[in-house]
Parts: sequence; C-alpha cells; structure tokens
Amino acid sequence: MRIQTGNPVRGKEFFNREKLIEQAWDLIEAGNHILLAAPRRVGKTSVMYYLMDNPKDGYTITYLITQSVNNENEFFRRIVNRVLKTDYVQKSQKVITFLEKHKPAISKVGLDGIEFGASEEGNYQEILIRILKSSHPESQKLIVMIDEFPETLENIIKDEGETAGKHFLQSNRELRQDSEISKNVQFIYTGSIGLENIVSKLNAVSTINDLSRLKIPPLKPDEAKQLVSLLLENVDFTLSDLLINFILKKIEWLIPFYIQLIIWELKNLHRDENPDKITEDIIERALTGILEQRNHFEHWHARLRTSIKGNEYNFVKELLNITSENETISSNEIHNLAVKYQLESSYKDLVGSLVYDGYINNHDDFKVYRYNSPILRMWWNKNVAN
Ligand SMILES: Nc1ncnc2c1ncn2[C@@H]1O[C@H](COP(=O)(O)OP(=O)(O)OP(=O)(O)O)[C@@H](O)[C@H]1O
Ligand SMILES: [Mg+2]
Repeated sequence: MRIQTGNPVRGKEFFNREKLIEQAWDLIEAGNHILLAAPRRVGKTSVMYYLMDNPKDGYTITYLITQSVNNENEFFRRIVNRVLKTDYVQKSQKVITFLEKHKPAISKVGLDGIEFGASEEGNYQEILIRILKSSHPESQKLIVMIDEFPETLENIIKDEGETAGKHFLQSNRELRQDSEISKNVQFIYTGSIGLENIVSKLNAVSTINDLSRLKIPPLKPDEAKQLVSLLLENVDFTLSDLLINFILKKIEWLIPFYIQLIIWELKNLHRDENPDKITEDIIERALTGILEQRNHFEHWHARLRTSIKGNEYNFVKELLNITSENETISSNEIHNLAVKYQLESSYKDLVGSLVYDGYINNHDDFKVYRYNSPILRMWWNKNVAN
C-alpha cells in the first residue's frame, strides 16, 4: 500500500474497514438515508469512494461534491447532471421520453447519452423528482452520495439568509420522503463540518431527523497496526512491535491520516539520515516534522475562525489554548471561562461542537476534556496558542 497523505484514498490505497463498510450496507439495505458523521480528515470521502467503486449487486452509486454550490437550484441541477450520467437513468425509456419533452433544459437526448443545457433556467428540484419517478427499473436501486453538503448549506445561509437555508433543508427532506422515489433512491450525505451543529443553530433539526447516522470511528489498535504493516511494505525500513506501539501511543487518536503522516515523515527522515534502524528518537523527530507542515492542520483553526464569531470565538480559542498547555481542562474550568466571556447560556453548545468536530473529548472522565490527539494539541500549542 502506497503512502498517501492528502487526497482521499482509493482502490489499493484504501485500508479496508470491513466492519464499517458492512454497517453502511446494513443501513443501505434497510432502506435508510444516511448521514456519514465524522470530524475532519477521518476518511469520509474515502469511504464514499469505496462504496461507489464496490457496489453490491442491484445498486448504482453516484458521488458528487457540492462544496462550491451556493444556491438550491444549482444544487439540484448538479444532482440532475450527475444522475443523468448513470446507467440507472440512461437505460430507462421513460426517463428519455420525459427528457425529450423538457428541451431545452435538457438539450439533447441521443444514443451516447444526454446533453443538457447547463445554464438553462428551470426548477431543477422538480426536474429531478420527475426523472427519479420516471425510472423504476425493477431490480435496480440508485444511491446518490453528496459530499460537503454542510458547506453548501453554509454557503446558502451566508449568501441568501437563514430562510433560504431552511428551505434548502426542507427541499432535500421532501425528496427523501417522497414515497415513490424512496422505494428506489437513497441519499448519503457527508461533509467536513458538522451538519447537525449548523442545523441546530437554525432551529431546523426536524429537517434532518429522518437521516440515519453512521459514525466513522478511529481505527482499533489492531487495525492501526495492520495499516502500519501495509504501509511499511513500500519503505526501506522496518519497525519492531515495540516501536509500532510507541507510535500508536504517541498518536492516540488512531485515524488513518495520522498513521499515514507519521510513516511518510519517517520515510523522509530515513532517506535523509540513512540510520541503521529507526529509534524512538527518530519517531519523536518525525512527529515534530509533521507539526511543521502547516497545511496539514491549518484548516482546524481556520474552521473555527470562520464558523464562530466574536466573544464565542475568544471563548473557544482560550479553552483550546489552555487545554493545549495543560493537556486537560475540567468542566469546572470550562464553566468559569464561560462566566468570564458571559456565555453561560450557550457555552455547552460550543463545547459540543468542539467534541463533534473532533477537537476534544471527555471519554475517559466525564468531567475532564482533552484533545483527541496529542498531534493536534501540539500543533495548536505551537501555532495558535503561542
Ligand atoms: N481507509 C483508508 N485507508 C488509508 N488511508 C486513509 C483511509 N481513510 C483515510 N485515509 C487517510 O486520511 C486522509 C483523509 O482521507 P479523506 O479525504 O477520505 O477524509 P475526509 O474525512 O473526507 O477529510 P475531509 O474532512 O478533509 O474532507 C487520506 O489522505 C489518507 O491519508
Ligand atoms: Mg472529504
């Protein structure tokens, strides 16, 4: 397995998370619409690619990323666009007949497929509904996976206001709830920011409460070791079990991304220094090396800067600063901070989004919060707190 530390992984580069994929199919086969929930960089897009590349019999799976979309009609136009490119639709005579009737929004229907007028106006939610209803291949189901959905929602709220945001959520729900469509079509949403937080700020939880949550957990220690071994197949050094355990202990939050980063960094150090063998000291230096690459972590800070404003941002920043300094922060200390920033009524939601977005957790002790990983803690301490 080749080391890959940026883009989503695909094919041979995907470390198969069998249980997770099984769980995903259980939900799909039970007819659910799904929200794939996990913090940044945990592997959401890679999981979607895997599902798309390895569909079960009877399923057509399509993927689109809507990060830059900032209005509802454009969002549905993009889905129409994508859905029309699938076998699921192209094989259906009913759809083709419908599309013929809808020129020029759809500009050409031919043997090679369908061309549609990209800039044509039209109500694309309606067109999508008609297309999905027109095609009922008996044994075939369609899954539409939408990546960066919460970003689209945020864009719409920013450009057109909260009412438009709620309308967008409502329209998506309508589509999912349509009894005819949902017999054959399912949606999977994900994104690098918590949809639930944005929706709850809008007071619109009812628009997504029909979605089944599928959490992507970090790897178990055994899986993490397996991933390390696979990555070591393509480097010129080995690591003893002791050293692998040492690494996993250092990383703590065993997401594939961190494992990829450390092996990548070790590979560089090994190439530069050509040591007889890897030592704990070299691993420590590899960790420091990771932290120096700003682009790996900058988004964690940037995200808070754009999504949380004014006093709330100051509160969150000080909370993370203190935790990066002291390793832990107690719920008492957090409460005192909230008093200092006059946020007694809302601070729990803020702490909740830090947990949800993967910064901190209180797994070990309900009253004590710590960073999910020392890597992010050290990065924050060095680059934001000081
Ligand atoms: N199953 C996997 N096998 C191997 N590496 C993985 C796997 N999943 C994730 N990774 C590692 O994590 C990185 C991020 O993966 P991916 O882009 O899928 O995550 P994401 O959750 O979609 O991130 P973002 O929140 O930034 O969109 C990859 O570049 C790769 O290094
Ligand atoms: Mg992604």
